[in-house]
Amino acid sequence: MQLTLDHPDLVSLAAGFTDNESLPFEETRELLNEILGSPRTRRIALQYGTTGGDPHLRRLTADRIRKLDSAEGAPFNALADASARATNAKATQRSHPVAANEVYSPERVLITNGSQQLLYMLAECLCDPGDIVLVEDPTYFVYLGIAQSHGFSCRGIRLEADGIDLSHLEQTLEGLRRSGELKRVKMLYLVSYWQNPTGITTSFVKKAAALAMLKRFERAAGHPIYLLEDAAYRELRFAGHDVASALAAEGAKERVIYTGTYSKPFATGARVGFGILPKPLMTVVSRVKANHDFGTSNLLQQLLCRALATCRYERHLPALRRRYARKAATMTEAMREHFPEAVRWQEPCGGLYVWARCPRPVRSGVNSRLFKRALEREVLYVPGELCYADNPARRKPNHEMRISFGSATESDIRTGIARLGATLREL
Ligand SMILES: Cc1ncc(COP(=O)(O)O)c(C=O)c1O
Repeated sequence: MQLTLDHPDLVSLAAGFTDNESLPFEETRELLNEILGSPRTRRIALQYGTTGGDPHLRRLTADRIRKLDSAEGAPFNALADASARATNAKATQRSHPVAANEVYSPERVLITNGSQQLLYMLAECLCDPGDIVLVEDPTYFVYLGIAQSHGFSCRGIRLEADGIDLSHLEQTLEGLRRSGELKRVKMLYLVSYWQNPTGITTSFVKKAAALAMLKRFERAAGHPIYLLEDAAYRELRFAGHDVASALAAEGAKERVIYTGTYSKPFATGARVGFGILPKPLMTVVSRVKANHDFGTSNLLQQLLCRALATCRYERHLPALRRRYARKAATMTEAMREHFPEAVRWQEPCGGLYVWARCPRPVRSGVNSRLFKRALEREVLYVPGELCYADNPARRKPNHEMRISFGSATESDIRTGIARLGATLREL
């Protein structure tokens, strides 16, 4: 972010910012006018509220996630990509059990300042220095920062095209059991939809199997091992059907923590996120939240509440998804034109990122020639190495790049990819 400010001609394909053009300016102005025009809502909006969040917003949030998990949400295809549709359709057929209503009770919903705040508070509540959290390999690099600041370590679980490698998860848990470290394992953290950074979506089958596996190891651990599902990109799907969350799996009520956000699909700057938590955790995390801020800004909660209740939120989504579909296509078209053939990637069907893999001898890290030459050519990406947890048993992969089509304009995407392609060819 600082580099972008220091170099005005720099094209940043690094930040996870959302698209500027499709931010809901008009809707927000209308919503705020309505909120401040009504004697009832303007008093709520400008007054303190409760730590857990506005009751109406908590109910709307619980209902929304329950509906998504029951496949009541309509499929959406902004891409004319039949194979992507087929893959997603297959995932859905296997993936929508009847979710238990009690899991989606508003009392289990906590409204937060972005889902980021909740990830941080959960770490504070559940982890002590020296503890272990299992993460995808690679994972959301900001989460690795949370781990570092709390003194717990992350262990990477290999990723496959449909989510974590379950046999590697089992091997890792078994290894930790044998070494006596299972007592330190508190959670498995999954970014399950259009993952940051790889764009992979975890199938429901894998989420349910992972949850059951964690349960099996609990006796040896001597405490609950939670599945923390980070669904930050769930609504940014531009092809196919949704996949049910782990909340719909057996045993979810006691062990699944779901974090979601209204940032990415609506107004990033409003910073309204939420979680659905097991009751005991709800109590503990609410206490920490009260210490932080007494509750999320009521004005902004009212904004989201009204956007949801009047269906403006829902109506905003199709245009947003079409826009990301177009920007993703612009990016991958430019990559096909400018990148050397040896660079590989998956066509995205949602989220904000393309994960590009160079051949192994190429290094993409912060100290690499590629990164430095790219900066000289005024283009920025996120080096893949930042997304891997430390592991003394191996060197971090250092040949990948996370490139984002979120905030850059289509013209900047073309320019940035051409610059990156020229750098790759040169090296
Ligand atoms: C995987 C993931 N989780 C959570 C967040 C936090 O988002 P917010 O705090 O805006 O809800 C982000 C933001 O980029 C993210 O990429």
